[in-house]
Amino acid sequence: MVKKMSVKTQVKHILLESSGEYFSGAALARTLGVSRNAVWKAIQELEKQGFPVESKKSVGYRMVQAADLLTEEDIRKYLHTKYLGNILIVKEIMDSTNDYCRNLLQQGTIRGTVVVSNEQVAGRGRQGKRFYSPGGCGLYFSVIVNQDFQLQDASVLTACAAVATSRAIDKLYHTHTQIKWVNDVYLNGKKICGILTEGELSLESVTMSYAIVGIGINVRNTEETMPQGLRSTVSSIEEEVSDCHVQRCALLAAILYEMEQLISEMTERRFLAEYRQRSCLIGKRVEWVETNGTVKKVAVMDITDDCALVTQDTFGNVETHYGGTIGKILED
Ligand code: BTN
Repeated sequence: MVKKMSVKTQVKHILLESSGEYFSGAALARTLGVSRNAVWKAIQELEKQGFPVESKKSVGYRMVQAADLLTEEDIRKYLHTKYLGNILIVKEIMDSTNDYCRNLLQQGTIRGTVVVSNEQVAGRGRQGKRFYSPGGCGLYFSVIVNQDFQLQDASVLTACAAVATSRAIDKLYHTHTQIKWVNDVYLNGKKICGILTEGELSLESVTMSYAIVGIGINVRNTEETMPQGLRSTVSSIEEEVSDCHVQRCALLAAILYEMEQLISEMTERRFLAEYRQRSCLIGKRVEWVETNGTVKKVAVMDITDDCALVTQDTFGNVETHYGGTIGKILED
């Protein structure tokens, strides 16, 4: 069932998304189908939480400062990394930050380059799926990690990025996010982030000379901006955390900070204990979707040091999966 947004949250979205435009109390009440008193109460609460709402007699309300803009200057204010983000490219709109990075690499870009876009019109997910990336609603970015990776390190790098994202979100918003193998971050049982790691394989040495880690986080997708088919499984930070106003610049900087730490210890696999502990699958029965589409019920036993998933089917057969898809998590 889709959770209904409070009047306060709806008023907040309208004011944030209309960049400083005034709305009368009557217009807000009409749009939301509530009383003017309910709108007034919502405004009071937003003010109490520190939202810069300005009221003008006989005109209405507006959010004074343009909220949560993504700018290089603001990101740098929060950034405490050694090299991740030294080159930082911030755009209003692009096809896909992963594709942008791939083009940059043809020009020999330095490791640690981060590309972030307010909106993606061709955001890509795993398995050729589209990643829905509306403007102002999410944090969509890619990080170029150039070092000689072994092929199996690609999923370890993705796992590092998932732990970094999960950790940063928990620290900033006091949440308990979990990781659904291998690359999705979940909050309250719903997906709030997906990760797509891509690289170029040198067939001679079976190494990847670079990897592009693309991370897409739903920050404030609302029921209106979310495609209908996704509403029951996908959510956003602001929808799940009450009274939370995400500053995307701060969130990006926090994730890059955690990522830099985790990548530096990646070969020792020290992050794995945290990865396993954040897993929402270990110890659960799930549907495993085979590449031919058949579904079987398995129990998830463990995640290996290479981030492969170990499952056991109902006949006791144990299998190790390096790729594939989890369907539903089954009730115990
Ligand atoms: C998934 O959920 O299947 C992975 C989604 C990855 C989305 C991010 S958004 C930034 C980067 N650019 C893309 O086109 N995709 C990744």
